[in-house]
Amino acid sequence: MSDSKEDVFAENGPSVSVVTPTFKEAANLLALASRIRSAMEAEGIEWELILSDDDSGDGSEEIARTLGERLPVRMHVRRNRPRDLSEAVLDGIELARSDRLVVMDADLSHPPERIADLLTALDRGADMAIGSRYAPGGRIDDSWSRYRSLNSRVATWLARPLTPCADPMSGFFALDRRRLPASNRLHPIGYKIGLELMVRGGLHVREVPIRFVDRRRGWSKLNWRQQAAFLRHLHRLYLFRFGLPFRVLSFGAVGASGLIIDTTVYFALQRAGIDHLLSRFLSFWPAVTWNWRMNRLFTFHDRPRRARVDQWVRFAVASVVGLVTNVGSYAVLSSWVEPFASHRLLALLAGVVIGSAANYVSASRFAYRETVPARQSADRG
Ligand code: GDD
Ligand code: MN
Repeated sequence: MSDSKEDVFAENGPSVSVVTPTFKEAANLLALASRIRSAMEAEGIEWELILSDDDSGDGSEEIARTLGERLPVRMHVRRNRPRDLSEAVLDGIELARSDRLVVMDADLSHPPERIADLLTALDRGADMAIGSRYAPGGRIDDSWSRYRSLNSRVATWLARPLTPCADPMSGFFALDRRRLPASNRLHPIGYKIGLELMVRGGLHVREVPIRFVDRRRGWSKLNWRQQAAFLRHLHRLYLFRFGLPFRVLSFGAVGASGLIIDTTVYFALQRAGIDHLLSRFLSFWPAVTWNWRMNRLFTFHDRPRRARVDQWVRFAVASVVGLVTNVGSYAVLSSWVEPFASHRLLALLAGVVIGSAANYVSASRFAYRETVPARQSADRG
């Protein structure tokens, strides 16, 4: 490291650290750093820019090194790891020297000229300040296709129950490091690190309207995989926020989807000439397997991971318990208990409810238990 490099960093440390996740943004880095510099100089704010790069291999590193010779710019390169925007941001935050943190995209969709307003909002007591496209005065780019704006609106609407913020999907925000939730409490996946922080941290958010401009150079890295990850992320946050009632709802939804598999296989087997009783017996297993997998991925994603086979067997046992309770309740109610004896459909429905409850409790206590012997929790995936 040359002597001149130290000179570009403020003596007492910067008063804001800008953290930018980057992936193949070589074409944007120079413009980004220059615009942040002009904006910060205009306000008299000491700054640094930390680029958290997922090993782009497009010359970004060299550009960042050159920039670092005359500006307070550093690039952290994450090697040999699956690329992930949220984790890149968290890594960048760890390297930041200031407690006042700003996160923004590299493609100049987020105006650096608004950083000062975000910091002002923090100074006035907000835990987190968001550059918001949907607050009064905010805008999205005119060039956005109908598909993209609808997509964005739907995503925002899905997050409604989690936060009153009008633009919780924004990737442009400021917060004080001391308001960061402990990193073991964070479980982000994909793009929405801002949403993760505000929901898990229970942060009081203030919105600063911005005009979001579409990138001029490079391309968006948001693809269907990120969209799928977003749905899983939302599910986790709902679970965090609403606890047991949402878990039960999720379990019920998984059960309903399993029923579709059950009946489809049941009919398919009969079409293939298999006896209906045998079909009934066989169709149960693919449905159980589906339910086990979905509950592992969604309903009980936060429970310790058991070895798959072990957990499958346990879940199958829980499902048989549910089935026996279901049919058993039907038999008892329809034989001896009014009004079920004279209304058998009621008995059937009551059986489903009681059986599902038994299934839930046994799955939760036996297959997806909160504590697992240490040597078992090693298997992940
Ligand atoms: N390190 C790293 N790893 N950076 C990434 C990755 C990754 O896997 N994927 C994207 N980035 C960086 C990009 O280089 C860019 O600086 C920033 O993250 C945003 O990526 P874009 O590809 O430009 O995303 P976008 O414009 O589609 O989405 C933006 O707008 C959304 C709202 O419409 C982001 O700000 C989203 O967070 C935001 O929700
Ligand atoms: Mn972008």
